[in-house]
Amino acid sequence: MCMHVCVQMDLLGGGTEPTIMAVEWALAELLRNPETMKQALSELDTIVGRDRKVEESDLKQLGYLEAIVKEILHLHPPLPIMFHASHETEWQLIQGYSLPPMTGLFVNVWAIGCDPNAWEKPLEFNPQRLIQNKKNIDVTGQCFELLPFGSGRQVCPGHLFSNLLI
Ligand code: HEM
Repeated sequence: MCMHVCVQMDLLGGGTEPTIMAVEWALAELLRNPETMKQALSELDTIVGRDRKVEESDLKQLGYLEAIVKEILHLHPPLPIMFHASHETEWQLIQGYSLPPMTGLFVNVWAIGCDPNAWEKPLEFNPQRLIQNKKNIDVTGQCFELLPFGSGRQVCPGHLFSNLLI
């Protein structure tokens, strides 16, 4: 019983707060960038029109909206710092660094998003970059410059669901 409550709390907490934060940031950035808002509305008008609501099946045609969502997760990751721990064996990390067994490691996803080596003009809100030069980037933990849902065994179990919600 206690275990069930914990799982439910985990899903409720993990599922609501980051989604709400992403939606709030998206609205704030769209208000600050009226040109982007205009383009997003024009895409919605073309693909969906004004007589019905957006359906899940429309999403794959809403490329500009998807780029906006990814750019929000890049600039404002709802969980900017993740905690991982190494297990019994030593971890070999990149560039000659290794991590002793049972050691905690903070991954600063927000800082990766601000790194000019990974992103051109990183702090600019620019969904267009995710249509042009970073077109194939995904958010499922395969592309290390964009890790809003984490990666590997600890990846967010709600990431597919969230991509529909945001
Ligand atoms: C924009 C939306 C969301 C973002 C950015 C997000 C991000 C994350 C991140 C970064 C983690 C930690 C990964 C790690 O430690 O490496 C996580 C964990 C988790 N997320 Fe999400 N999440 C979102 C939505 C959701 C939704 C909708 C659900 C459930 C329906 C969910 C359920 C969980 C749970 C249960 C965990 C804990 C997993 C564990 O402890 O192993 N998340 N999420």
